[in-house]
Amino acid sequence: MKFTKLLTVFCIGLGGAALAHGGVKNEAVMARMNLMTEIKEAMAVLGEMAKGKTPFDAQQANRASAALASHAAKMPALFETPASDPKSEARPDIWLDWPDFVAKASDMEKAATGLDTQSLDRLRAGIGALGGSCSACHKIYRIEK
Ligand code: HEC
Repeated sequence: MKFTKLLTVFCIGLGGAALAHGGVKNEAVMARMNLMTEIKEAMAVLGEMAKGKTPFDAQQANRASAALASHAAKMPALFETPASDPKSEARPDIWLDWPDFVAKASDMEKAATGLDTQSLDRLRAGIGALGGSCSACHKIYRIEK
């Protein structure tokens, strides 16, 4: 029950990503979308293991969580310039409340660093918090198209 709920949170984090990059002209916007896509891919590796769709592999899980932590650390630099593009899903509130945005990126970094990837049970126990860090930022700073 609890696990199902956590996976729902996780899926909301991933939602609405399909081909959003097509036609983006602003390079800064493209760069941050590409970062988010890499984040999505690393998160999918963990999510599929947690759901039992792929066999659990501690090393691979560890690599994915390390990648997520390093991607989160890059977020402030990639978002700092208030670049926009008709295709962007970024809300202008990011730059009105910049310290909060940075804090949410840091929360994700901590969640990724803190994820215990030693066993499938531990991965399952921790992935909800990581998915929650995506939604916590998206629900305020990303327009769901
Ligand atoms: C600190 C805020 C923040 C955090 C944390 C965050 N995101 Fe995002 N994400 C955004 C913003 C803002 C956008 C919209 C960027 C744009 O379109 O310019 C976005 C866009 C995306 C996109 C769409 C990319 C595209 O192609 O347009 C995906 C997928 C995504 N995020 C996945 C994730 C996942 C998975 C996590 C958690 C592991 C996560 N994000 C954590 C702020 C965040």
